[in-house]
Amino acid sequence: MEEPLGLSTLAVHAAWAQTPANPPATMPFYPSAAWAFRDLDEVDAVYEGRVKGAVYARNGTPNRWALERLLAGLHGGEAALATASGMAALAALFLAHLRPGGRVVASRDLYGTTWGLLGDLARFGVEAVGVDATDLEAVAAHLRPGSLLLVETLSNPRLRVADLPALAALARERGALLVVDNTFATPYHARPLAQGADLVVESLTKFLSGHHLVLLGGLVGRKDLVEGPLGVAVRAGLVPDPWACWLGAEGAKTLAVRLERASATALRLARFLETHPKVGAVHYPGLPSHPDHATARRVLARGFGAMLAFELPPEREAVNRFLRALRHIRLVLSLGGTETTLSHPATSSHRSLPPSEREALGLHPGFLRLSVGLEDPEDLLEELEEALKAV
Ligand SMILES: Cc1ncc(COP(=O)(O)O)c(C=O)c1O
Repeated sequence: MEEPLGLSTLAVHAAWAQTPANPPATMPFYPSAAWAFRDLDEVDAVYEGRVKGAVYARNGTPNRWALERLLAGLHGGEAALATASGMAALAALFLAHLRPGGRVVASRDLYGTTWGLLGDLARFGVEAVGVDATDLEAVAAHLRPGSLLLVETLSNPRLRVADLPALAALARERGALLVVDNTFATPYHARPLAQGADLVVESLTKFLSGHHLVLLGGLVGRKDLVEGPLGVAVRAGLVPDPWACWLGAEGAKTLAVRLERASATALRLARFLETHPKVGAVHYPGLPSHPDHATARRVLARGFGAMLAFELPPEREAVNRFLRALRHIRLVLSLGGTETTLSHPATSSHRSLPPSEREALGLHPGFLRLSVGLEDPEDLLEELEEALKAV
């Protein structure tokens, strides 16, 4: 007869369940930070890649690999890396692909924190040159072999549209790599790799996961271009935890239905705002008045996205009155959730820019960015119309 086990041993081991022979209906979740081996032969087999096994959560987890398969699939890329945030994807990419004396030619109209990160690289001898990415001659003038050309498909916050095929041709001609931050467009509206980009970055924190529940990022491209960032991400711990990967993959299941609805609503709201007497410029690439409307028709698929921006008078108090008069649309300094939300770039995403650069981008105190969600479009129209009376 076996010796009865002690209370503590039972507490540690008794719950171990058999894995069912049939699979669960949803993706399994593996929270373990470390994995066990039967013997040293199994350790060798896993390290040598003969068996797909997990070792330690920083090196890789089944939920991260699942998310990477999803990202590679959605973008039609050879390889993908999932990261702890969109910024972590950019950091891994920069650390792997830049050297002292290297150059990043970047759109001036990028997410402010991306510019902040490029500023950090100056200490390592990396030069960041800001350009108007819609001016192909200006871009060409700064590119040289080995440069990274960094643009956003739909820029934050002015919704300028990058001419991806033209920029890809320029980058190829000059021996540079085209890196596209596709966060606002998502693979629903744009697949930059198919348009010639070398690497695509996503903040899955936004529309791709879609529910304001996770901080998560990703990088997709050719295997030889993703391998370097993967190594850096594993060594530096820029990788996401399994729960974030699981939530991100679940959220992405509804990407197409969410964006189909939200983009259609965004177009209606943009048309409404454009005719409102209290609203100045409206920035939405689906409007014929937008400077990149023709580019948007070529570069974007299935509509023009769920982000738009509009300008109220450049007075802080007018904006405050408008915000206080809204009922459901709240000031949330992110984007891409199921709720329609507003943000104010001058005091949030672009707060760290020097005032002169903010001004040059036109980000005055009345500039607002709208992330369109899944509410009934009529309710949103009515709410905006009502709140504009307070401006
Ligand atoms: C265009 C764009 N890229 C990257 C990021 C960074 O993503 P994360 O917050 O997941 O690091 C953001 C965040 O707002 C963004 O808007």
